[in-house]
Amino acid sequence: MSVKLHDNYDNLVKNYLFSEIAKRVKAYTEANPEKKIIRLGIGDVTQPLCKTVTDAMAKAVEEMGVQDTFRGYPPEWGYDFLRNAIVEHYAKRCRASLKMDDVFVSDGAKSDCGNIVEIFGDNEIIIPDPVYPVYLDSNIMQGRRVTFIQANESNLFLPSPDGIEGGNYIIYICSPNNPTGAVYNKEQLTKWVEFARKTSSIIIFDSAYEAYISSDEPKSIYEIDGAKECAIEICSLSKSAGFTGTRCSWTIVPTELMVGDKSLNAMWARRQATKFNGVPYIIQRGAEAALSDEGRKECMAQVEYYMRNAKLIADMFKEKGVFFTGGVSSPYIWFKVPEGYTSWEFFDKLLNEVQIVGTPGSGFGKNGEGFFRLTAFGSYENTLEAVERLKKVF
Ligand code: MLT
Repeated sequence: MSVKLHDNYDNLVKNYLFSEIAKRVKAYTEANPEKKIIRLGIGDVTQPLCKTVTDAMAKAVEEMGVQDTFRGYPPEWGYDFLRNAIVEHYAKRCRASLKMDDVFVSDGAKSDCGNIVEIFGDNEIIIPDPVYPVYLDSNIMQGRRVTFIQANESNLFLPSPDGIEGGNYIIYICSPNNPTGAVYNKEQLTKWVEFARKTSSIIIFDSAYEAYISSDEPKSIYEIDGAKECAIEICSLSKSAGFTGTRCSWTIVPTELMVGDKSLNAMWARRQATKFNGVPYIIQRGAEAALSDEGRKECMAQVEYYMRNAKLIADMFKEKGVFFTGGVSSPYIWFKVPEGYTSWEFFDKLLNEVQIVGTPGSGFGKNGEGFFRLTAFGSYENTLEAVERLKKVF
């Protein structure tokens, strides 16, 4: 006799992609302590929090040490000051008009991408391949049926709904995309929204990289007419304000989003109230500051710093005639590995020969085989050096 376990976990790949990479890099570092490794693998930021943010956090720390301004449990959906700042952010920078009640503050886009599946029943899930592993893994954990749509070189890693039959799907879209860096334009996103509405499907839109968009592509799904009736959006300050360690994000579930007579907003509110105790006051004050005009200006200077790195890498691939996507409006560069290598073989080659850590495309799905991802989140100096090292490989 033994307790019953969730057999669905048997269907996951053994190790989470970034844990597997960390394990291999650790083994290499232990065996070669004298080698200088350049890490362009996990999309983790390297620039410190900006001054407007740290000042706001420092002030909040002081308030927490004073009787009159001390705060206990935060509201489970976020303090009104931050929910309002998020509504203003959408109005000012995303051409989208939201209400405070649509906004749920959270501790990370990854957690919300994983948790949001709990409010849905046993629907068919549509996930692009390749994809950020969390969408797939969290649905496998729930035993959901997943259909992959093909993102590949021929559609420049931007699959469309053309040819998809049936309906009542949960559809994951990430734009700018992780891992491919590809970005949907307004017309392409409109097609997805129209498809979702026509087929009674729901889109889960991950906009964690919106700050990197440099042209007029939508930063939010709510820039598309009708999206409030068919889409949930998950966004984060991790990549736009350096919050990967600080943890603050939000999920938008518009009050207009209904399935029959059921409000998804009410369901998510209920789920969060039961299972989540909110983001710390100090962090929410920092997040509010990051979204202020001054904070955003400082954060965007960091985004530009990373995009200078992206351009360095992208220019090198252009010069070498290597196929790639991303590098523009995205901190990721997704490129084709040289003939004869699998993605993991190329990972080992880069690590062993030029001590660069990247992310093998096959870790993001079948269509990622033969591709590789580099991030622009390193320092400028390290990126320059990485480009020189890469030139020896191509
Ligand atoms: C990535 O490298 O894909 C991301 O940093 C992972 C994440 O945001 O969780």
